[in-house]
Amino acid sequence: MTVNQFLKTLDLPQQLRLDQEILLAHILHHPREHIFAHPEIKLSKTQVSKFRRLWKKRLKNYPLAYLTGQKEFFGLDFHVNNNVLIPRPETEFMVEEIIGYVEKSARGKSIIADIGTGSGCIAVVLKKKLPAAQVIGLDVSAAALKIARKNSQKNKTAVEFYRGDVAALAKKKILPDIIAANLPYLDKDKKRFFYHNCPALKYEPDSALFANKNGLGDYISLLEKLMVFRKLPTAIFLEIGSKQIKLARRIFLRICGDKYDLKVINYKGTALIRLIISYRIVSIKKKQARWLGH
Ligand SMILES: C[S@@+](CC[C@H](N)C(=O)[O-])C[C@H]1O[C@@H](n2cnc3c(N)ncnc32)[C@H](O)[C@@H]1O
Repeated sequence: MTVNQFLKTLDLPQQLRLDQEILLAHILHHPREHIFAHPEIKLSKTQVSKFRRLWKKRLKNYPLAYLTGQKEFFGLDFHVNNNVLIPRPETEFMVEEIIGYVEKSARGKSIIADIGTGSGCIAVVLKKKLPAAQVIGLDVSAAALKIARKNSQKNKTAVEFYRGDVAALAKKKILPDIIAANLPYLDKDKKRFFYHNCPALKYEPDSALFANKNGLGDYISLLEKLMVFRKLPTAIFLEIGSKQIKLARRIFLRICGDKYDLKVINYKGTALIRLIISYRIVSIKKKQARWLGH
């Protein structure tokens, strides 16, 4: 059977058509455009049955990215499996903002730490776009770090990866200038609601999606730990859900409000929290350094 004949046998709704084509291209080891340019390509019986097996899973909401084992993020290809969150297009916004901030403030040689690196997508893109920066990816999951390292190699970037939360940086005496974090932020107590609204979520790691304290538990712990670092980061970028803005603003300001200026930027159902160290703190630190003769 040729690709052309095979596609005609699949009489499925329009919105699933794209997924089918991507899956077929994956099975044939060709880009999607190639199979359209060559509808005469023959499919073996094994390929047809592989397609049917994977498609059955897809119809049960199993994510396409896990079936193909890859996902594009910021124009780069990333390996993914069910140990990592599938990179979301919304998160590209945070990466853009960080790149913009680094370029505008001429902080190209910064130490940037991506906390909760997952597939490594944020860290890898940042290293690619800001090659002079030292980029570090941290995750509490060893299985996720395995994928992140693979992605760093695949995209030829020298990102350092460590296991643990932000405290692992302090132990290694690494004091980052910039923090990027897309930590789990869905409310643990509303799991059933999220699974009902988006059934595909149940295939992604629980530990990458849900957090306690209205979904803000991991961010609260991150900020509390950061605020006692010997040197505070200059900028902190956090992704949350847009419905969490009010609560997050109040809590985050309570934790680090006198040291940071907080800005919220809404973006497609998510929100980016940007904390920039306040000028007052910077000048106190400078004065202290002068007194100490540094
Ligand atoms: C929402 S996923 C984000 C993955 C990736 N950064 C992205 O944007 O696609 C969150 C990741 O944070 C990790 N994680 C959860 N709590 C953490 C913590 N306290 N410190 C470090 N990593 C954590 C999870 O294992 C998971 O890989």
